[in-house]
Amino acid sequence: LREHEEFTKVKNIATIELGRYEIETWYFSPFPPEYNDSLKLYFCEFCLNFMKRKEQLQRHMRKCDLKHPPGDEIYRNHTLSMFEVDGKKNKVYGQNLCYLAKLFLDHKTLYYDVDLFLFYILCECDDRGCHMVGYFSKEKHSEESYNLACILTLPPYQRKGYGKFLIAFSYELSKKEGKVGTPERPLSDLGLLSYRGYWTRVLLDILKKHKGNISIKELSDMTAIKAEDILTTLQSLELIQYRKGQHVICADPKVLDRHLKAAGPAGLEVDVGKLIWTPYK
Ligand code: ACO
Ligand code: ZN
Repeated sequence: LREHEEFTKVKNIATIELGRYEIETWYFSPFPPEYNDSLKLYFCEFCLNFMKRKEQLQRHMRKCDLKHPPGDEIYRNHTLSMFEVDGKKNKVYGQNLCYLAKLFLDHKTLYYDVDLFLFYILCECDDRGCHMVGYFSKEKHSEESYNLACILTLPPYQRKGYGKFLIAFSYELSKKEGKVGTPERPLSDLGLLSYRGYWTRVLLDILKKHKGNISIKELSDMTAIKAEDILTTLQSLELIQYRKGQHVICADPKVLDRHLKAAGPAGLEVDVGKLIWTPYK
């Protein structure tokens, strides 16, 4: 993963402080020039304003009255919450989040307009507030049927299933919209691994339960996963045969069981009953 670094601009900010974590950064991020001589930046974990000195952050924390991301809480399940932030209504927050995220995202350019995006912030909540674990962004209107633009789990929270939760959440939103979706390309190595894992798990679970034939179109309608992504996933699992000019799913139960055993844990479930959301208009 880190080999990408030498192809991208030289990293400026080496570490950030965010809530109770000090986090080493991965990539260059285009902070405004006055921050470029800093090795470390101090973020307010709630409004994501960033500062060059610890004392500035301490002063900020005494007067910042946010205890969660701005915007609407659209999901809560025990200590896990999701907030929807409209980049147009919360421009500074959206920009701060993009600066922060770019520190861990290689391929993505940041020169887009936050107005055009919604941000979905995943938080772990306790009596001190709602602490950001990760997020994904989504275009308000996508011509290419993208249902997710950028996804990030902050490094201290990685490999605990939050990434798959965020991916699952993005597809639940697509289901509510009655649309199929796909993530914006290119995917990073870790992004591809996570998506492959999610698609594999979802499709195997359906094929395992389903009796009789099922088409890619039907799978797509059930899951909101784009047909191409279903095809490449099933091909990589060797569950597709090409017969008379058509792709046919051959779900041999023994093969399914073998793949299911090899597939990673399902991860944190999205409980759709707890999602209170209507599509953006
Ligand atoms: N090494 C190997 N496999 C990994 C690793 C790793 N370091 N991290 C994740 N994976 C794979 C595993 O297969 C894992 O499934 P498993 O636990 O069942 O084996 C799967 O990815 C998902 O793991 P999660 O714990 O659900 O995901 P996580 O919370 O770590 O988040 C994410 C994944 C968002 C991609 C994270 O690694 C990240 O933020 N990376 C930096 C930013 C990035 O690359 N984002 C994607 C860019 S593409 C886009 O935005 C459209
Ligand atoms: Zn603040």
